[in-house]
Amino acid sequence: MAMPGPGPAERARAVLVASGKGGVGKSNLSLNLAIAARQLDRRVLLLDADVGLGNAEILAGVTAPRHLGDVLLGRCTLDEAVVAGPAGVDLLAGGHGIVDLPPVDGLRWRHVLGQVARFGWDLVVIDGGAGVGGAVRPQLLAAREVLVVTTPEPTALADAYAVIKLVTGRDPGSAPRLWVAVNQVRSRTEGQAAFDRLAGVCRRFLGVDLRCLGLVPFDPQLREAVHRQVPLLLAAPHSPAARAVTAMARQLLGVPTPATGGLLAYLTRLWPGRPARVGNAGPAAADSPGSGGAAARTGRGPV
Ligand SMILES: Nc1ncnc2c1ncn2[C@@H]1O[C@H](COP(=O)(O)OP(=O)(O)OP(=O)(O)O)[C@@H](O)[C@H]1O
Ligand SMILES: [Mg+2]
Repeated sequence: MAMPGPGPAERARAVLVASGKGGVGKSNLSLNLAIAARQLDRRVLLLDADVGLGNAEILAGVTAPRHLGDVLLGRCTLDEAVVAGPAGVDLLAGGHGIVDLPPVDGLRWRHVLGQVARFGWDLVVIDGGAGVGGAVRPQLLAAREVLVVTTPEPTALADAYAVIKLVTGRDPGSAPRLWVAVNQVRSRTEGQAAFDRLAGVCRRFLGVDLRCLGLVPFDPQLREAVHRQVPLLLAAPHSPAARAVTAMARQLLGVPTPATGGLLAYLTRLWPGRPARVGNAGPAAADSPGSGGAAARTGRGPV
């Protein structure tokens, strides 16, 4: 495993991937976002914070003898638990099928974050659990950067709103940097409308402006990748969802998207809001947050 050496404290940028509703795609987005960031030359740790119910190990097709629970219990140090994950990503597993774990309270969680910060990862992607209670709450309250994942379903949007309300309701000045990704969208129009709906409600009731990190298409190849236990970015790097996740990693890291040639790309840039199947236009155009969906901004009630 290519374990980074100790670096300056607080060096690692940690992004907590969260959702209100379960099963929206956090673990898959976390894993593939981590790989995409690694492919952009960042040193990356994927930290599965869904203690006892972790999926990262399974999705990545690796075995980790130790996990976050061991670190929380002081059975081992962080670097003893981190294993080599796919494509050069380091992985701290959450452990799965384990029920006798200590509660992840704020103190324990901050201790783990403190250990993480001692190493030189450029980016730590934290795959969190769903909801706003239990072990997730201290993680949400401690996060400096949160990526809220939702699907276009009204139930998922409503639950995403609850997460955003919690993390932005912290002391003024300590609110985290906030991103939203809409996953499993059937068209760009649908994804943009969902984002606009959530953004509108958050602006109106919370006074918060949301930033869209990406719209990820519903992609049968992702399900196939899950079954094969090979991350989508490795199993099908040119699939629509993989390209959308790569575009998200670029935006997250501030890496400019390479100029895409061809008439289709040119036309897509000219009319970014035209109804199009998400993913067909390539990563640069897959998810520009400001594009399209103007009609969806009008007249929507709360989520
Ligand atoms: N973009 C997508 N296209 C198609 N299917 C998807 C997509 N994203 C997620 N899925 C499906 O949703 C399932 C759940 O995804 P995942 O495990 O990443 O969700 P989660 O939010 O981490 O769930 P949990 O809340 O239980 O941790 C996947 O196994 C896959 O079948
Ligand atoms: Mg998960």
